[in-house]
Amino acid sequence: MSDTQKTLIANWKSNKTLQEAQAWLDRFDQLLAGESSVAALCKKDGHTIAIAVPDPYLLLVRSLTNKYPFIKVCAQNVSMFGMGSYTGEVSARAMADIVSYCLVGHSERRHWFGEESAQIQSKIDLLVAEHVTPVVCIRSLEDIRMLTLNDEVMVAYEPDEAIGSGLHAPVSQVVAIARQLPGVKAYLYGGSVDSQNIADYMRESTISGVLVGRSSLDADAFYHVAESALI
Ligand code: PGA
Repeated sequence: MSDTQKTLIANWKSNKTLQEAQAWLDRFDQLLAGESSVAALCKKDGHTIAIAVPDPYLLLVRSLTNKYPFIKVCAQNVSMFGMGSYTGEVSARAMADIVSYCLVGHSERRHWFGEESAQIQSKIDLLVAEHVTPVVCIRSLEDIRMLTLNDEVMVAYEPDEAIGSGLHAPVSQVVAIARQLPGVKAYLYGGSVDSQNIADYMRESTISGVLVGRSSLDADAFYHVAESALI
């Protein structure tokens, strides 16, 4: 990935009914069609827009990728085990048929589901083996020291205090973390990114993209975020 190719990830978290999910995708399709500057720039400059949705909607997102190759399907979580007798889990092997990316170790998973480094490492390794790019979320450098990463993973720096709070982290803080990372495929920032602040992050060559939560819940708002990022 070159310095100028950006990855924007919409993270819906555990939101939307089937009907709402379909309405979002229909509207986003409408916005991308025709004279869309976002679509033109993604095609020309190789940017990626990944949409991270609850598992039941992954196939809906995939239907959009045929029309727009720069759109990628992203899962929000994966099993720490391979295929087998693990009721309720979705294996990396099963994900690999549908998604290109998978979030791993998001702060909400660490907080609400007690995920720790050993489980996160297992998920990363299983995804890499299936050629799905893990987007490993870290809250601090401490989180990264506990993991073995390589150039097949993306890292998303998401400090707890910035997530969903409206208090986005200063660009200087995000860049300082980048300097201390091992060689990874891409480095993203997440935490209260919106159309007002995204350009400040995109300007930095060390920041390859962003994870957008709240501002991705509305298709028009997310399209506007993408416009502000890429134009
Ligand atoms: P936010 O969420 O944009 O609502 O802060 C980002 C995230 O948790 O990925």
